[in-house]
Parts: sequence; C-alpha cells; structure tokens
Amino acid sequence: MKGRDVLSLAELSAEEIVQILDLAHILKSERSQGVFRKLLENRSLAMIFQKPSTRTRVSFEVAMFQLGGHAVNLSAGELQLSRGETIEDTARALSRYVDCIMARVYSHSDIVKLAEAADIPVINGLSDQYHPCQLLADLQTIRELKGRFQGLRVAWVGDGNNVCDTLLIASAKLGMNLTVACPSRHAPLPEAVRLAKKFSKETGAETRVIDDPSRAIKNADVVVTDSFVSMGTESEAAKRRKAFIPKYQVNKALFSKATPNAIFMHCLPAHRGEEVTNEVMDGPRSVVWQEAENRLHTQKAMLCLLMLNEGELPWPPVTGPVSAKL
Ligand code: CP
Ligand code: NVA
Repeated sequence: MKGRDVLSLAELSAEEIVQILDLAHILKSERSQGVFRKLLENRSLAMIFQKPSTRTRVSFEVAMFQLGGHAVNLSAGELQLSRGETIEDTARALSRYVDCIMARVYSHSDIVKLAEAADIPVINGLSDQYHPCQLLADLQTIRELKGRFQGLRVAWVGDGNNVCDTLLIASAKLGMNLTVACPSRHAPLPEAVRLAKKFSKETGAETRVIDDPSRAIKNADVVVTDSFVSMGTESEAAKRRKAFIPKYQVNKALFSKATPNAIFMHCLPAHRGEEVTNEVMDGPRSVVWQEAENRLHTQKAMLCLLMLNEGELPWPPVTGPVSAKL
C-alpha cells in the first residue's frame, strides 16, 4: 500500500481495508499496554484544514507523535493558497518537505488535484463527497462489536452526505447490507451508489436507498446518522432542519425498531436534539466514543501502511481470504 492515496476507500481492495484494520487492532492493543512503536521516526505529515476539526486534527497529530513522527498543522488561511498559489504548486512544494499529506477540503476536486500533483501519499481528511478516515474507524468499531461484516444489516438515517457516500462504498466492499433512508432531495451521490452496486457484485451486499427511516431501521444491527447540516451547507440550515428533524431524527421510538442489540453510531460532532436525541446518544447501545477513539488507531495503521515497506511493519503478512474475524 506504500505510496498510495486514500481519497474515498474506492481505491482500496477489501483485503487492503482489512489489512489497515488488522494493524489498527495490533496498535490499539499495544497502546493499551503502554507500548508505542516508533515506526514513523523521522517522518512528517502535513495537515491542511480548510474547515474546522476536532477529532481529525487531534487524532492525526497524536498518531504521528505516538509513532515517533511529526505533524505540521496548516490552516488553509495561513498558507500561500489563501493568496492564490495553486493547489498543485502547494502539493509540489510540500512533497519536498514531508512524507505524507492529509487535507480537509470543501471541494473533492481539491483533494484530487492535490493527490495528482503530489509525489507522496495524500489522505482525504474529509471533503464534500467522502470521509474515508471516518469509515475506517467505523469499520474497526463494527468489527470489535459485531465480529463480522458479511451479512450485517446497516441503516443510515438522514442526510445522504459525505459520510454516507463513503459508507456505501465500504459496506459494498465488505459485504454489509446497507439501507440508506433520506429525503429524495438529499440522496447520496449517484457516483457513490454506482460504485456500491459495482463492488457489491463481488460480495453479494445489498444496497438500497429509500425515504422511510422506519423501514431502513427495522431489524438493523447498526444504525448510523450524522449532522443534517454538514460543513459548507450552513446557508440551508433552516430548510434542512425542517426537512429532516420531524422524520429522520434518531430518537428512542425510531431506534427501538432496530434489533435489540443494535448499536448506534455517529461520526461526531453531534447536534443533540436534531439528528439524534440525548437518550440515544448517551444510551447503553451508543458506541460513539469508541468510534471516535478508533480514529486514532486506524489512522496510525493507515499512516504506517502508506509510508512504510511491508518488511518494516510489525506483523506477519496477511494472507488468505478476507475475514472480519479478529
Ligand atoms: N468526525 C470528524 O471528522 O470529526 P472532526 O470534524 O471533529 O474532525
Ligand atoms: N458530514 C459532516 C461530517 C463532519 C465530521 C460534515 O461534512 O460536516
């Protein structure tokens, strides 16, 4: 995986995704025993943020620190990008200093341009279309709690946004049956649905986009939602709240339609009282903090795999069929 870009998860095979999860599991268990491997000593990561962030910013910076490397935080406003330097030239200059770039951007085309012009791996730390880092953490959480992916029933309720688009790809690649319930005006990207249909041919995963949240949640093992007002859509906030809250809020009544041991997931930040009620978010089946923690472990694993050779990795090579078993 060395030298690759991670922009949407579509570029990784199921085996490669599981490889990241396997290494994340090793790094997580070692960290709980106080072990920190200096796998990325003398390596640097540039982090570009066009939008605010709590989890992505902190988990990437701490990931590099714990692996013995260094992270340089760059808000877009302090770069020459803000004065008209092109994204491509920014990528070329950064490629001469650091070993990897992670960027959070408004427009997905910006991350694509960055990746095309950079000589080093580029990670999408969220764009208007995809949030692959979030999905890696979500997959680790699902695997830890459910022990498998194949055949699991996942319901996405709410906005068909960047996290939903990435969930479509991830579910199809790993064989999870996903039902997205959203208003038709806020459906996922047609391209993400197309990719999900393509990848599901190999895994047999079912992918459905409907508008009825009760039908989506019925018998779901995993229920996921996200903000109704993503960064960059603030001007539509009032209209969006009106369209979403009455029907798509994950509250006790709606969540009770899932299986009795269904888990509740949210990438955070949550807008309590909008897409989710306190009762569900703070309830016994909410796994949102484990999910947030797993950003750190999966990103450490991804950084190692993108920057190191196979021989430098702390594990026996993964072989054989894809297995969600730990
Ligand atoms: N989930 C997520 O990406 O959080 P931040 O916006 O805080 O980085
Ligand atoms: N869909 C949200 C995710 C935030 C982590 C947004 O893009 O703002």
